[in-house]
Amino acid sequence: MKKTVLVTGATGAIGKATALELAKNNCTVILLGRNSEKLLKVKSEIIQATKNSDIETVVADLSEPKSIKQAAYEINSKYSSLSALVNVAAIFTKNRAENSQGFEYTFATNHLGPFILTNELLDLLKAGKPSRVVTVSAPSTTKINFDDINGKQKYSAGFLGAFGASKMMNIMFTYALARRLEGTGVTTSVFHPGLVKSELTKDMPKLLYFIFKTISSTPDRAAKTLCSLAIDKQYEKSNGTFLKFDGKEIQSNKYSYNKDLQEKLWAMSEQLSK
Ligand SMILES: NC(=O)c1ccc[n+]([C@@H]2O[C@H](COP(=O)([O-])OP(=O)(O)OC[C@H]3O[C@@H](n4cnc5c(N)ncnc54)[C@H](OP(=O)(O)O)[C@@H]3O)[C@@H](O)[C@H]2O)c1
Repeated sequence: MKKTVLVTGATGAIGKATALELAKNNCTVILLGRNSEKLLKVKSEIIQATKNSDIETVVADLSEPKSIKQAAYEINSKYSSLSALVNVAAIFTKNRAENSQGFEYTFATNHLGPFILTNELLDLLKAGKPSRVVTVSAPSTTKINFDDINGKQKYSAGFLGAFGASKMMNIMFTYALARRLEGTGVTTSVFHPGLVKSELTKDMPKLLYFIFKTISSTPDRAAKTLCSLAIDKQYEKSNGTFLKFDGKEIQSNKYSYNKDLQEKLWAMSEQLSK
């Protein structure tokens, strides 16, 4: 049966390459992004390159819970099942900003967004079992400051700041989700794509951004593995795992394995999603 896979961040480097790979593998691909023009451009490029016309688009701003819930409503109304959800979208911003609810923008987009979207689509994923949730993160070592989750007292952008914390949250969210998914036929992994050429970190100091881009690889390698994680039988039972660009399992930072903190993050996210 044809698989239906939803990819967020589909207008970005890794998301677009992953959507292309899924289309090549004869999936129906739902591209989720915040900019409809960009989405339609990606859709037509993918159809042209693959001759797979089962490419759909959904507009949602992942920094805004209301927008996510509206998009999830549309998806739940249109589809009867999903084979995989691939959470790719993220931002990296130098300056602190807030969404309309006063949540710090990196936290809202990179963690709360995929948290809400995944939970809103769980019934569709269960209907499509065996199915997968894959969330793209990085090997973060940054601890979460639960007392200042919105970075009001102290904000820094980088790997040791809001961005790093949001990537730690992606890992801890996956481990907490894996426990909840046991026995449902849905499994979940978190994924480290390696260094990939993209515009993600363009807010970094110029020299650092230049070095970063120079040593990064094209998105193809990460996209091929992400596609495989989403649809290949080989990963069907891989639950609560952290995998890197070559598909091998790796260990995340010791802090991320703290179940009490994972549950604290889950409870807080649930509360803030309301
Ligand atoms: N690149 C790397 O070296 C690297 C390394 C480790 C981990 N990662 C992770 O890989 C993932 C993808 O990164 P990338 O390098 O492909 O970045 P990218 O090219 O900048 O793509 C980011 C994507 O996220 C979307 N996005 C941002 N804010 C959004 C919002 N509020 N609502 C909906 N979509 C939003 C962007 O949409 P627009 O096109 O509209 O901006 C874009 O499609 C991220 O989770 C990142 O943390 C990347």
